[in-house]
Amino acid sequence: MEDYRELIRANILNEAIFIRATFSGHQAGATSQWQKIVIRPVELKNIRHLQFSYFDDKRDITKNYAGEEAIISLEEALAVPFRNFNIQTTTGDVQVNLSKKGKPQIYRSNTDDERRIKTNHDREKSVILTPDSATPYLQAVGIMTQDGKIRSDMQSKFKQINEFLRLVQEVGELDKLNTLDRPIHVIDCGCGNAYLTFATYYYLTQVLELPVEMTGIDVNRDLLSRHTQKIRSLGWEGLSFRATRIGDFMPEASPDIVLALHACDTATDDAIALGIKSQSRLIICAPCCHHHLQEQLRFHPSPAPFASVMRHGILHERMGDILTDSFRALLLRIMGYRTDVVQFVSTEHTAKNLMIRAVKTTKPGDMRFIQEYLDLKNFWRVTPYLEELIAEQLGQFVV
Ligand SMILES: C[S@@+](CC[C@H](N)C(=O)[O-])C[C@H]1O[C@@H](n2cnc3c(N)ncnc32)[C@H](O)[C@@H]1O
Repeated sequence: MEDYRELIRANILNEAIFIRATFSGHQAGATSQWQKIVIRPVELKNIRHLQFSYFDDKRDITKNYAGEEAIISLEEALAVPFRNFNIQTTTGDVQVNLSKKGKPQIYRSNTDDERRIKTNHDREKSVILTPDSATPYLQAVGIMTQDGKIRSDMQSKFKQINEFLRLVQEVGELDKLNTLDRPIHVIDCGCGNAYLTFATYYYLTQVLELPVEMTGIDVNRDLLSRHTQKIRSLGWEGLSFRATRIGDFMPEASPDIVLALHACDTATDDAIALGIKSQSRLIICAPCCHHHLQEQLRFHPSPAPFASVMRHGILHERMGDILTDSFRALLLRIMGYRTDVVQFVSTEHTAKNLMIRAVKTTKPGDMRFIQEYLDLKNFWRVTPYLEELIAEQLGQFVV
């Protein structure tokens, strides 16, 4: 009888062909901490690693190992009493199923498709929703055709939501929210066509297997009725939509995560304010157009050194954008959020490619940020819209 473990080992350790392995199901009468282990190659700092994702019934843990450690971890994974082993390689799949008596049945299939070994970790990281894994959802929301291809007019949107989610995941807070003794509450503000809403719900509930109650909100009622039909077809009971302005929205439960992707103009401020007032753990937004501060900048003579910049329309506009997002980031920092501003996708996919990521970490009122905020505000002689929205929360800090 062929030693099935040796067969699995040989395929996984063959760098030239290995793509992915999934160990799952338990042998008769056996139990284990892990429901499933997924192994795949990744490249970190130019060194090939094997990435092990361990799934139990609530969460998953991911570890990367290189060299000897990878071999030891593989042996440990092989020692778990799994029943089914699927190994994908560029030359074909190997499937090993153990019978009730532990006898291995081995199936092989040759592949003629265009599999490539994805060992570039950055590339792998960027694909949170792979066309392979997310097919039913991608087809239901119209990103994928019935024959399994990402629609050509949806390529940019698919890239955007993947990158958006990758940066949400990168913050590392999802692991902590996983320990809550209740569903995670998520709000997507200005959800529009809801590609991000559906993608986030899919990712959190089906990939990370987290309990989630998510609401997409938008003023456009007509759009939302279509989403409700999609929810029914997918059977996603924890997802709902509400037709309301963000500023008027009174969530039944405080959101843990507030998202906004390209919510128009001050709708981004409304989303941030909703997150701050609810003390959400994560506030993540990619702003869209910026008009509010632009208007104020037009009414004041530019501060002396900037007159030469502000005389050019496009630079005036970009300065307004930069200042609006700088004020947003500073106000979040004042309110106790660790905040960064990053590019979330290349300009080829959208010009609106800036993301503000904020994680609640400390108490509000850090003097350094208050001073920076006041200095910037006084220099430009403007009042950001977000300051007005959270005036009560800012209280004594900013007067
Ligand atoms: C550019 S679309 C973005 C939609 C979606 N987030 C996406 O990225 O595909 C902006 C959406 O925000 C909605 N919106 C704008 N202002 C809003 C407000 N104050 N409250 C709720 N929705 C708003 C619009 O109706 C529109 O659907």
